[in-house]
Formats: sequence, C-alpha cells, structure tokens
Amino acid sequence: LKGVVLLLAAGEGARLGGSEPKAFLDLAGTPVIRHAYEAILSAELVEAIVVAAPAGYERRIESLLPPDSKPVTIVTGGVTRQASAAAALDAAPTGDAYLVHDAARALAPSALFDAVLRELDECEAVVPALPLVDTIKETAEDHVVRTIDRSALVAVQTPQGFRADVYRRAHAAAAKDGFAGTDDAALVERLGVRVRIVPGDDRNMKITTAHDAAVAEGLLGAGR
Ligand code: C5P
Repeated sequence: LKGVVLLLAAGEGARLGGSEPKAFLDLAGTPVIRHAYEAILSAELVEAIVVAAPAGYERRIESLLPPDSKPVTIVTGGVTRQASAAAALDAAPTGDAYLVHDAARALAPSALFDAVLRELDECEAVVPALPLVDTIKETAEDHVVRTIDRSALVAVQTPQGFRADVYRRAHAAAAKDGFAGTDDAALVERLGVRVRIVPGDDRNMKITTAHDAAVAEGLLGAGR
C-alpha cells in the first residue's frame, strides 16, 4: 500500500534539558526534525506527510524542511502525543494507510517505512519490534515482586502502520471512551484488530535524553 506519514514532533523534550523543543535539537549539524523528514522523503511508498509541530513553532518547523517532492501539511500538536496524532490525522489527506512516526526516532531508515507499508498489503496493522535484551521484573516500592518471562515480550518502535479506516475508527473510539494509550497500536488493539509484528531496527532508537543524543550522533558519524 501507499501511505501518509503522520510525523509527531510536538513534544517539549523536557528530559533533554534544553530550552527548545526536541525537534530542533542539533544532531551532527542537522536538526532532529530534518533527519526524520529526509528519511520519509526517501521512502518510495510514502505519498504525503503531515507534521505535528509544537504550538508556536509551526513556521520554524516549516523553514527547516527541505523543498520537497511530496505534499506536506503542518498542524499544531496537542498536549499529549495521542492528541498530536489526532490533530495530524484530522488534517491528513485521505489515503489507503497511515504511518505514525515519532520525530524523536530521527535515525529511522527509509526502508523501514516501506517495509511497514508492504506488510499492510496483507494485514490491517503493523508495528516494528525488537526482542528485549534486559531481564524485566515487576516491582513494588523498593523490591522485586517477580520476574517476567521475556521470551514473549518485545519493545515496539515507530513507524507504526494502519489501514486508514482502522486508524480513524481507533481514534474515534479512544476519544469516545477517554482511552489514553502509550502508542498508536494500543488504540487499535482495543478494537480487536490483530497487530502484526515486523523486525525493528537497532539504529531506530528514540532520542529522549542527552545520552541518547550523544549515542545517535555516534551512529550518524559511523555512517548510515
Ligand atoms: O515524549 P516522547 O519521547 O514520548 O515523545 C515521542 C514523540 O511524540 C516525539 O517525537 C514527540 O515530539 C511527540 N509528541 C508530540 N506531542 C506531544 C508529546 C510528544 O507530538 N504532546
């Protein structure tokens, strides 16, 4: 399928400790938002892009995007990530599928966008995922309650892809029920839609802290 990317860049980036939203963080001479945007421009199956920008920074986001070959819409993001996704979806052109991506995953390879869209030929929802490397424990206050069997667990990334009708229904249901999810697939799972897993990418890390930014710059220096 071809799809529209909803690029979420409206976060404050409070955990980075800077004075500016995370989208503007410089990584090897290029802001986070532009790294993410360029990967999306190179994805063959992506036909349009909607960017959710931090309130008051819409024009600045626009000025950082390269003159592009794909239609782009910029909207004002919301207070939560889910609200930013809903705002982007409201402004999105109709398409067969939506891919929701965190701008904070600035190193996502273009091939991952295409891989998720190809998988959507055969199913309704797709998330990239990696196995867990750490042992995971349930805790209470300062002690361990039990160890979780990690063999059935994965860590999911973005872009997460959905058939357009499924994603629109999922947002409508979440809004109606007051449901808040920590990713987009969670909204779709509660409709009973099966979410398929494709391999994630080690480089596709989420940049949350200053440490992550340093790691990402190291990866960029090591060559894409
Ligand atoms: O804060 P967190 O790292 O979970 O944010 C993940 C992604 O969601 C980031 O790319 C951020 O810009 C975006 N976001 C958003 N609107 C918000 C909060 C986060 O677009 N209100």
